[in-house]
This record gives sequence, structure tokens and C-alpha cells, in this order.
Amino acid sequence: MEGHGEFRAFCSAEVRLLGLEEGRERLRGSLEDPEGTVLVASSGTVSRLGMEALAPEGIRIVSGFSSDPTVDDLRGCLTALSGRKVGRLVCVGGGSTIDMGKALCAMLGMEGGAPESYDGLCEAIQNKRYVRADRGIELIAFPTTAGTGSEVTPWATIWDLRGGRKLSVDMPALTPDLAAIVPGFTTHMPARLTLSTGLDALAQAMESFWSRARDPLCQALALEGVRRIRTHLPAALSRPGEMEHREGMCLGALLSGLAFSRTRTTACHSISYPITIRHGVEHGLAVAVTLEEVARIDRSAVPEIEQIYDIFGGPQGLHRWLEETSRPIQPLRLSAMGITEQDLPALVDGAFTQGRMDNNPVPLGREDVEGILRRVL
Ligand SMILES: [Fe+2]
Repeated sequence: MEGHGEFRAFCSAEVRLLGLEEGRERLRGSLEDPEGTVLVASSGTVSRLGMEALAPEGIRIVSGFSSDPTVDDLRGCLTALSGRKVGRLVCVGGGSTIDMGKALCAMLGMEGGAPESYDGLCEAIQNKRYVRADRGIELIAFPTTAGTGSEVTPWATIWDLRGGRKLSVDMPALTPDLAAIVPGFTTHMPARLTLSTGLDALAQAMESFWSRARDPLCQALALEGVRRIRTHLPAALSRPGEMEHREGMCLGALLSGLAFSRTRTTACHSISYPITIRHGVEHGLAVAVTLEEVARIDRSAVPEIEQIYDIFGGPQGLHRWLEETSRPIQPLRLSAMGITEQDLPALVDGAFTQGRMDNNPVPLGREDVEGILRRVL
């Protein structure tokens, strides 16, 4: 196994699990100095958390980006901040908000400033012109969903809709300085968002567990993440107001985030990107749709996948759990997501993302991916 005997360092972020009042207090403290502090949050989040009362007068708020942030969104946010000296970015929101904060952080720190044109930004991201050892801007994350793990990872996804591709802003220094996890900030989530972010966390944990970059420490974290998600995701869906299950999901998602922050993901994530970009399927649902199929294939190379099955009571148990958890909200079949057989060749074309597909323990070619997609149609 690659990496055997090495235990790479986990994220350097300070991670805090906080009660609602502590969380609000920590948020208020992080916004105390309006000079140089920028709050990245959607307007819905600002009013829902009563942040007008927490944030001092004159604080700059960046909002108005889509739930899957695009290059256009990034340009808009950079324009909104032009001419401003930014010393701290406080991101309050789901993975997309935290990703936007990270992308801003990377671009604002570029020598000579961020490119202004669409193509210039794409080029800078693609060729990693933003990479440096020290980011210079403090980055604080308060996630309001339980799933993406963005608060403990060093990368962010930005969608190039014109080019029809996913771009990754990625450098070690992008891991937030503080990940403040406040389960009380996640109780607002409607069922569909609870499901999609929860399934993203499940997929990230499982993919970390079987990835080529796996090691025993990541696998232990991933298994514990899977265990919590198995218990708490269905309960958070059926009893959304019960804090015990929101806390369980926050911990499950954190364990998953820590696991995959060192290994990255594999075939399920790689295959999901064209499903999201071409058909608008939420990220967590797009990754979960191939989870069972990829687990089945990867088991030949990673027999300890059995330990994941054991948590669900066997492969059939995993199948039942996925079906029963998702069916009332979104059945995990491509056809139920508006995708037809005619769409499959384009999905196969877009399914091979470097660093994801080649991190799968069993090498998959075009025919394999097409077979997977047909079986989940
Ligand atoms: Fe993900």
C-alpha cells in the first residue's frame, strides 16, 4: 500500500466544536475589527444568524455568488473588493461559501493582483499562478452545513461554466486557520440539503478509505465518519430539529473531512463532475449515485472495504440504507436526475479528472465508467 508506514500530518487548522452561544460569540469576536476584515456569507445566512447584530458597523460583506461558485462569481467578488486591503476573511456558510473564501484568499494574494478578465482568471487557476508558501490573509470558516469538509481541506472548487469544466484552487496554505463547527448553525438545513451534504461526507469518507493514498490513520477516521453518518443522517432527516443528530452529522462530516483532506477522493467524485456541470445535479447526490458500484469494483483491490460493509450489515445493507435514506427526496438513479442514455457518452468524456480518477485503487477506463453509469441509469 502506498504511504505505508508514513503518517502524514493532518490539517493545520485549529478545529473547534462549539455550542450555539459559544459559536455566536466566536463569530462576533472574529468580526470585531472591521478594518481589513471581510465577511463572506450569503445574504440569507447573514439574516438567519442575526449577523447584522454580531458584526460591527461598516464591515464589508461579500455575498451574491451561486451555490456552485463560478469563475464569474469569483470575478464579481474580486471586483467588489478591489482597492481594499484585506487581512482576514471570515466565511460563514456551506462548502461553496468557504470555497469562495479560499479562492478569494488565493487570488487576492497573487503577486501583481488577480487577473481581471475571465480567461485570465481561468488561466491563473489552471496554471496555479496563485501558489505561494504563506497566504498572508487570515482565513476563518464557520460551516453551516455538515458535509463538504471544506473547513479542513486546502482546496476549493470553482466552476468554469463557459469551458464546461471544474477548476480546483489548491495549495497547502489554503487550509483555514480556524474551523469553528457549530451544530446549532446547521439546524436550518432543509431535507434536500441535509441529504446532499450528508451523502457528500459519506462518499468522501468511503473514497478516502479506499483511495490509493490511504493509510491506516485516514482509514480509522473515515470508518468512524461512516459510522456516525449511517446513524445520524437518516435521523437528522426524519427529526430535523433534534440537536443530537445535527451534532452527530457535524462530527461525521468532520471525521470525513479530516480523512480525505490527506488522501483526496477517487472515481465517484471524478465521475460526478460532469453530472453536476451538465445536468445541475447537487454535488453530494452526484457523487453518491456511483458509490455502491465503485465500492463493489474497488473491493478487489482493497479487501478491507468489508469493514465499511460491516457498518451497514453487508453490501445489501449499504444498498438498502442508501435507498431508504435518499428515495423520499431524490432516488439515486441517473434517470431520476433527468439523465438519459443519450447523455452517457458526454458524461464518460468528462469523467476523468486528474488527481481523482487516478487515485482510485482499481484503474478505470472509458468502458468501465460507461458500465458503471449504465448500471445506475
Ligand atoms: Fe465532495
